[in-house]
Amino acid sequence: MSFLCLFMVVIHLHASAFALPSSWCNGTSPPGYIPSNAIYFNTKSRYEEVNPYLISDILAVNESWVKPPSPQCKAAHLSVIIRHGTRYPTSGNIKKMIQFSKLVKSQADLRCVKELQTWKMWYKEDMDGRLVEKGRSDHRHLAQRLIKSFPTLITKENVEEGRVKFITSSKHRCVNSTLAFKHAVMEDLRIHGVDLPHTINDSLMRFFDQCKRLVETVEKNKDAVMEVERFKDGPEMKRVLEKLADRLQLPYSNVTTDAVETVFYLCAYEFTILSKNSPWCRLLDDADGRVLEYAGDLKQFWKRGFGHDINSKASCILFHDLFRRLDAVAEQIRAGGRVSEVVMVQVGHAETLLPLLTLLDLFKDDVPLNSSNFALHLARAFRSGRIVPYAANLLMALFDCPNGLRLQARLNERPLTLPGLDDLSPLYQDVRKRYKQLLDGCNQDTVCALDS
Ligand SMILES: *[C@@H]1O[C@H](CO)[C@@H](O)[C@H](O)[C@H]1NC(C)=O
Ligand SMILES: *[C@@H]1O[C@H](CO)[C@@H](O)[C@H](O)[C@H]1NC(C)=O
Ligand SMILES: *[C@@H]1O[C@H](CO)[C@@H](O)[C@H](O)[C@H]1NC(C)=O
Ligand SMILES: *[C@@H]1O[C@H](CO)[C@@H](O)[C@H](O)[C@H]1NC(C)=O
Ligand SMILES: *[C@@H]1O[C@H](CO)[C@@H](O)[C@H](O)[C@H]1NC(C)=O
Ligand SMILES: *[C@@H]1O[C@H](CO)[C@@H](O)[C@H](O)[C@H]1NC(C)=O
Repeated sequence: MSFLCLFMVVIHLHASAFALPSSWCNGTSPPGYIPSNAIYFNTKSRYEEVNPYLISDILAVNESWVKPPSPQCKAAHLSVIIRHGTRYPTSGNIKKMIQFSKLVKSQADLRCVKELQTWKMWYKEDMDGRLVEKGRSDHRHLAQRLIKSFPTLITKENVEEGRVKFITSSKHRCVNSTLAFKHAVMEDLRIHGVDLPHTINDSLMRFFDQCKRLVETVEKNKDAVMEVERFKDGPEMKRVLEKLADRLQLPYSNVTTDAVETVFYLCAYEFTILSKNSPWCRLLDDADGRVLEYAGDLKQFWKRGFGHDINSKASCILFHDLFRRLDAVAEQIRAGGRVSEVVMVQVGHAETLLPLLTLLDLFKDDVPLNSSNFALHLARAFRSGRIVPYAANLLMALFDCPNGLRLQARLNERPLTLPGLDDLSPLYQDVRKRYKQLLDGCNQDTVCALDS
């Protein structure tokens, strides 16, 4: 009896293996090192996917993006908020990778993905979120491009006279990103024997940990991300799970949402860390990539974006920190004095940048993202991989122009129109008017109090 059962299982396995689309089965990874899914990696995206011209020249600067508002304008100040560079997975994700890759190696039918037969697990739990070498170069190269883009601000003199400052989150990957950035500045400008200090400020760069209302009502509250769970249990995700199970010839019960995400991570991390088109990437096609990207964006939307008001309000402290500095520069220029903080570089997380961009009303779709409108949102604005890849950066540059101060905002070095201000270089006073409500309110202590 048991022999017969086994026999039938074997028959079944064979039958379905041969039912696989031959275009997929027995293929090898497509040529080139960039997986076709790379545009769907959410916050695990490489910066180069947002700015593909960097692939052929990592120090390229698009001249048309870095022009001052007019030739008569003089750059006066630059504030930049940067996400840390490429990193290892966190230990939680590494555990899941170890587990699922073991299951695949021992149980799956890998005749269709031969490269996986020889793939070896190389992640170790102690890599836990650390910055990788690519992450260091993300920041080194960004520093070099910013020096090219703002040659009168990031200068030897300004560095030596203490007008270039650094603030970072206490997380090692942020501190190490900051060190890489500073090192590049010193080298590029040939500065020796000067200490370029940085300060750690988690109230500012990790406000999301410290805002009680956010922690209690969103971070620790499952209901706040209910739409994410619903989507994971929904029909789009079910299809992805079944396709993956079929491709690996695993029972459906072995392929959970966690497992699919793990495969996606294995593909994404091997690409961003090792520049490899991993065999894991072959297990998910373009349609799968879109679904997984949406699942990731849904999570960001409900945890860090427009999903809940407190998500963006938690960044009030960073908003005011920025405008206080811009105001101080404006005042110094008005008084005819010298600008004391010419460049401020702040290094934090995707969770630092997304709430602030949301507070500024950027990347807002007309209809909120939820579990049942994936199809409606195929062309959505809120796409975390485009907004906060590794080394994502928000630049705010003040220019002293004949008819007043002007502000240019750039995201990931691309010109950014602030909503409601159609000029790419609006007058600073118009920007202040646009955000008057926030400037007059948005008090961190009040918005983060639990009983507010
Ligand atoms: C894959 O190709 C080999 C020969 O290269 C063939 O023997 C095998 O049946 C093919 N497998 C599938 C599932 O098509
Ligand atoms: C530079 O930016 C302009 C305007 O956005 C664009 O048309 C052009 O293609 C860009 N150049 C490169 C090399 O990306
Ligand atoms: C930071 O860099 C130092 C030295 O370069 C290294 O020893 C350390 O492991 C790094 N830490 C992280 C979290 O990347
Ligand atoms: C895989 O599925 C089988 C049968 O459904 C089950 O017995 C086994 O425990 C599962 N293994 C894992 C690691 O989920
Ligand atoms: C951190 O930044 C905030 C906002 O600018 C400031 O009020 C606070 O004093 C800073 N804390 C430290 C330790 O520098
Ligand atoms: C999701 O959004 C759609 C509009 O696109 C709306 O009709 C639907 O009720 C929403 N679903 C939930 C669960 O909020």
